[in-house]
Amino acid sequence: MKTPLFVSLLCLSYTSGYSEEVTYHRDIAPLIQNHCMSCHRPGASAPFPLTSFEEVSRKAKTITRVVDDRYMPPWHANHELTSFQDVRRLDEDEVALFTRWVDAGKLEGNPADSPEPPTYTEGWQLGEPDMVVTMALPYDVPADGPDIYRNFVLPLDLDEDKWVKAIELRPSARSVVHHSLYFLDDSGTARKLDGKDGKPGFRGMSFRKSGSLGGYVPGVSARKLPGDLARPLPKGSDLVLSTHFHPSGKREAEQTTVGIYFAEKAPSRQLQEVQVPPGFGRGMKIDIPAGESNYIVKDTFEIPVDVEAISVSGHAHYICETMRMTAALPDGTEKVLLDIPDWDLDWQDTYYFAEPTILPEGTVLTSVISYDNSSANLDNPHSPPQRIKWGRESTDEMGSITLIGVPVEADDYTSLNRSTKIQRAQIFTQLGKELKDTQVLDRLPVIIRFLDKNKDGSLQANELPARMREALLLRLDEDKDKSLNPSEIQTLKDWLESMESEKNA
Ligand code: HEC
Repeated sequence: MKTPLFVSLLCLSYTSGYSEEVTYHRDIAPLIQNHCMSCHRPGASAPFPLTSFEEVSRKAKTITRVVDDRYMPPWHANHELTSFQDVRRLDEDEVALFTRWVDAGKLEGNPADSPEPPTYTEGWQLGEPDMVVTMALPYDVPADGPDIYRNFVLPLDLDEDKWVKAIELRPSARSVVHHSLYFLDDSGTARKLDGKDGKPGFRGMSFRKSGSLGGYVPGVSARKLPGDLARPLPKGSDLVLSTHFHPSGKREAEQTTVGIYFAEKAPSRQLQEVQVPPGFGRGMKIDIPAGESNYIVKDTFEIPVDVEAISVSGHAHYICETMRMTAALPDGTEKVLLDIPDWDLDWQDTYYFAEPTILPEGTVLTSVISYDNSSANLDNPHSPPQRIKWGRESTDEMGSITLIGVPVEADDYTSLNRSTKIQRAQIFTQLGKELKDTQVLDRLPVIIRFLDKNKDGSLQANELPARMREALLLRLDEDKDKSLNPSEIQTLKDWLESMESEKNA
C-alpha cells in the first residue's frame, strides 16, 4: 500500500514544484546559446551544429546523456575548490532542464520566447595581428583512422627579440583540429625533421623545445595576457605547432594560420613556469604495472620568493585519472590550485585564476597524479593492459602540473628561475646518482679545473665528458653557446649542493 501513496505524493510535489512546461525556445535555447554554440555552430570546432530547435531536438537523447555525465560542455577542473575565469559548466538545475524537456516530449514552444542568437566575430577575434604566418603546405587528414599527433614548423625569421601578448590560431579545417600547442625551437632541429617522411611536418615529441607560447583548445577564445605581461620570443626562433587531429569522417586538408600579437615593450615582471614534477614527470621513474588501478606520482616544489600565480594546466596521456596541485602556505593554510577529478587527454585546458593568488616565499606546491592501468579504465590504449612507462608517445605516460606565475618583486625573477633550473636538473637522477656516489661535490673544483683544459674558466663542449655532454648542455647551457660559463657552472654546483643536503637530511 505504501508505494502508490509515495508515488502520488511524489507526483504531486513534482507537478506543483514544476508546474510550468519546459519548452525549447524559452528554457533550452538560452542554455544552448550560452554554453554550447561557441563550439556547436557551422565552422566551429564541434562536429555538428546546435543552433535550432530541429538540430537540438534531433540530438536530444545524446545531449541529455552528455550534459548529465558532464562530458559537455567540456570542463575538467573542479571550480568549487578553485575559482577560475570563464568556467564552462552547467549547474544542477540547468542539467535537469534538459532531462525534463526530453521527458516531457521535447516541446518547441513559442519562437518569440527565444533570446536573440549571439553574434560571433568573423575573422581575428583580437583584431589585426602584428604578424601572420601560415603553414607552407597543407597536411592531409584522412576521413577516419586513429588520431594523429603532428608538429609543423613555421619559420618566423625575426631579427630582434619580441614579447608575445597573445596568439590566435585559425585552422583551415576546424572540425579535425582537436588542439594545438605552440612551442619554440631556436636550434633548427624542427626544421631539419620537417617533411622527412614525405609529408608536411614531423611526428613525435623528441625535438628540443626552447620555449612555449601556450596553446589552442577548441572553444577557448584567444586572450591577451593580463597587465603588461608577455612571453619572450627570442629572435631566430621557429614556431612549432604541435597539433592533435581527430578524423571527422570526411577527408580534410589542414593549413593552419597563426596570428601573433606583440607587446610594445618588455614586461616589468617576467613570467616563470613552475612544473611539478618537472620535465613532464621524466625523473619520476613512471613505471605502471599492467592491471595497477591506482598508481600515484607525487612531487613537491618549494617556492623561493613571493609569487603571483596566473594560470595552471596539467599534462598526462590516456590512463591518467586524477590530478591535483595544492599549495601549503607558510601560515599553515592550504589552497587547492587545480583539482581534476576525471582527467581527459583531449581537453588540456589552461585554467586562469579568477582571483589574485599570491603564494608567499616558502609555499610548498604538491602535485599528486593518479593512473588506472586496469582494463576497467575505458581509456586504456592497451587491451589487455600492458606495463606503461614514461615516454613521448601517447600510449606511454607522462604527468605534471604547470603553474605560471610572476614574482611579486620583479628582482626576484633570477632566484625563482634558478630554483626551477635546479629542480629540472634533478631530473637526471641517474647522472645524479653517479655523481653522488663519487662524492663529487668535494672534488668538484678539482674536477672542473681538470676538465677546463684551456683554463678559460668555462667548460666547452669538447671539455665535457662525452657520456654526460649532451645532458649537461641540455640542462645547464642557458645561453646556448655550447659551453658552460662560470654562472652555468654555479647552477651545477647549486644543484649538487641541494642533492647533498637532501642526502644528509
Ligand atoms: C569548447 C567547445 C564545446 C562546447 C562549449 C560544447 N561542446 Fe559539445 N562537443 C565539442 C566537441 C569538439 C565534440 C566532439 C569531440 C568529442 O566528442 O569530444 C563535442 C561533442 C558533443 C556531442 C556528441 C557526444 C557523443 O558522445 O557523440 C554532444 C551531444 C555535444 N557535444 C553536446 C553539447 C552540448 C549540449 C553543449 C552545451 C551544453 C556542448 N556540447 C558544448 C565541443 C564543445
